[in-house]
Amino acid sequence: MTKLILDLDTGIDDALAIAYALGSPEVELIGITGTYGNVLLDQGVRNALAITDLLGRPDVKVYKGLPHSSTTDSFEVLDISAFIHGKNGIGDVEIPDSPREAESESAVDFIIDAVKTYGKDLVYVPTGPMTNIAAALDKAPEIKDEIGRIVLMGGALTVGGNVNAWTEANISQDPEAADHLFRSGAPATMIGLDVTLQTLLTYRETQRWRDLGTTAGAFLADMTDFYIKAYETTSPHLGGCGLHDPLAVGVAVDPTLVSTLAINMQVDVEGATRGRTIGDNERLNDPNKTMEVAVGVDVPRFLDEFMTRITSLAKN
Ligand code: BDR
Ligand code: CA
Repeated sequence: MTKLILDLDTGIDDALAIAYALGSPEVELIGITGTYGNVLLDQGVRNALAITDLLGRPDVKVYKGLPHSSTTDSFEVLDISAFIHGKNGIGDVEIPDSPREAESESAVDFIIDAVKTYGKDLVYVPTGPMTNIAAALDKAPEIKDEIGRIVLMGGALTVGGNVNAWTEANISQDPEAADHLFRSGAPATMIGLDVTLQTLLTYRETQRWRDLGTTAGAFLADMTDFYIKAYETTSPHLGGCGLHDPLAVGVAVDPTLVSTLAINMQVDVEGATRGRTIGDNERLNDPNKTMEVAVGVDVPRFLDEFMTRITSLAKN
């Protein structure tokens, strides 16, 4: 069975990604590694522990990652992130803290150990900045050939960014880390804004969770309504909120949900377009394409899978 690691800056769509993974019998979630972005590292770890407890899976271990990029000394949450995900990252909905703590092993070591243990059966899904995987590739470069696949949420190829005209949020937090991953030769599928802004959720679906009458259903509905409301302000033309991180998990479970273009990517790390993800001219004709970029998505099928899996999980 495919083993999954989610690397999360646990905000709202990251939380939905946890629910999607736990509702997918085809994969085993062997751990969550924490990163920073929507919230500070510690808050994201706290959210991941609390959410796995609330969803009835206190057996899922959580590992602490790096608190900021290697090019900065610290990290501060952007105002826009707090606006979209709430101050606590989960739409300011209060849920009980977990009595558990993060594991003592670091996220970077856990990622490396998991590759050594599961090899090609392991799919790693980063849905925040790529800082942890870049550090793992630095420490143990051979894992690029040993890992099954990396399905990352981040970047954009055919559309603009969401931080500014050219940069997507996860890549913008640590462009060097993403560039390192993209050039490493690790097998990676980029799930960017090209496809995630086509998969939208509305109040109609969250009401279905609320109608379940369960704690999990109420939590998911209240949290996601906060996110939809924020999208009404930031992106009113969309008519819903983007299911960025759950789509990456969806593709990790079932790659046929998207159509992809085989192209080696790079990230601009200097100049005015810092953070832009773009095809690497120098490796354009390289017969060994290690990356794929999702350029199309089966929206109805994904939304159906998303609702079926999460609703069945939240029923209990
Ligand atoms: C990405 O940025 C974060 O705010 C979301 O959780 C998602 O991973 C979308 O650009
Ligand atoms: Ca995220």
